[in-house]
Amino acid sequence: MITGPRTGPLDADQVLEAYPWPAAGRWVRAMMVTTLDGAAAGPDGLSGSISSDVDKAVFNAVRRLADVVLVGAGTIRAERYGPMVAKPEDADARAAQGSAPAPVLAVVSPSLDLPWEEPMFAESTSRPIVITLSSADSQRLDVAREHAEVVVLGDSLDVARLLDLLEQRGLRRIVCEGGPTLLASIASEGLLDEADITVSPMFAGGAHTSPTPVFTSPARFDLAHVIMGDGFLMNRYLRTTR
Ligand SMILES: NC(=O)c1ccc[n+]([C@@H]2O[C@H](COP(=O)([O-])OP(=O)(O)OC[C@H]3O[C@@H](n4cnc5c(N)ncnc54)[C@H](OP(=O)(O)O)[C@@H]3O)[C@@H](O)[C@H]2O)c1
Repeated sequence: MITGPRTGPLDADQVLEAYPWPAAGRWVRAMMVTTLDGAAAGPDGLSGSISSDVDKAVFNAVRRLADVVLVGAGTIRAERYGPMVAKPEDADARAAQGSAPAPVLAVVSPSLDLPWEEPMFAESTSRPIVITLSSADSQRLDVAREHAEVVVLGDSLDVARLLDLLEQRGLRRIVCEGGPTLLASIASEGLLDEADITVSPMFAGGAHTSPTPVFTSPARFDLAHVIMGDGFLMNRYLRTTR
C-alpha cells in the first residue's frame, strides 16, 4: 500500500506534541540528521550544513521536554553547543512532568579533551555531567571537576550502565544527539526506544564523519510519522511492541 502525505503547516507546539514522552520509565530517543548518502556532517564537518529550519524546529521539539541531552565528545568538539537553559515557555510543562527547569547536558569523554571555555559548561542551568573512564588522566580529571560533575564509569564504556546511571539520577527522558560513534554504541546494544532521523535532501560524501548509524535491526522499529518541509523528511521511528 502506498499512502500520501498529509500536508499543512505545524506550529511549534504541534511539533512538540508529535514527540511525546511516555508517562513512566526510561526512554532513550536518538536525534540525528543524515544526508541521502548517510553522512552525519557536511563538507565543513558540521551538522548545521546538512540541516534546515524545519529540521531545527523538530530538533528543538525533540529535546524541549527531555531530562538529559547525551552527546559524545566529538560532537562537543565539532559543534558549538549552547548552554542548556530554562525557557519560560517550557516551565509549566517541565514542572508538571516532574523535570528540572532545563535538560542536563551529559558528555561522554574518555579523553576529557573538551572545550571547557565554552558557555555550555558555565552557563547551563544545571551543571553538566561528564562521563569518563578510570583510564582518564588525573590532571584532566581535576580540570573537568572544576567545570562539570564527573562520573567515572569504570575501565570501559558500558553504554547500558551509562543509561542506568542517568536513570538512577532521575534523568529518564534521554535524548542522544549523537554523534555517530556514541549513537552506534547505543544502537548496537539494542538500547534505543525511538529514533528521530531527519533525511536531508543532499549528498555530502563520507569524508567528514563515519556514517550515521541507527538501526542494527530495522524490523524492530515502526515508522510513527514523517514530518516534511523544504525537501527534508523528519522520520520518527519507535521500537516495535509487536
Ligand atoms: N548529523 C547529526 O545529527 C550529528 C549529530 C552529532 C554530531 N554530528 C557530527 O559528528 C561528528 C563527530 O562524530 P563522532 O563520531 O566523533 O562523535 P561523538 O560520538 O559525539 O564523539 C566521539 C567521542 O565521544 C567519546 N565516545 C563516544 N562513544 C564512545 C564509546 N562507545 N566508547 C568510548 N568513547 C566514546 C569519545 O571521546 P574522547 O575522544 O573524548 O575520548 C569519542 O572520541 C562531527 O562532525 C559532528 O558535527 C552530527
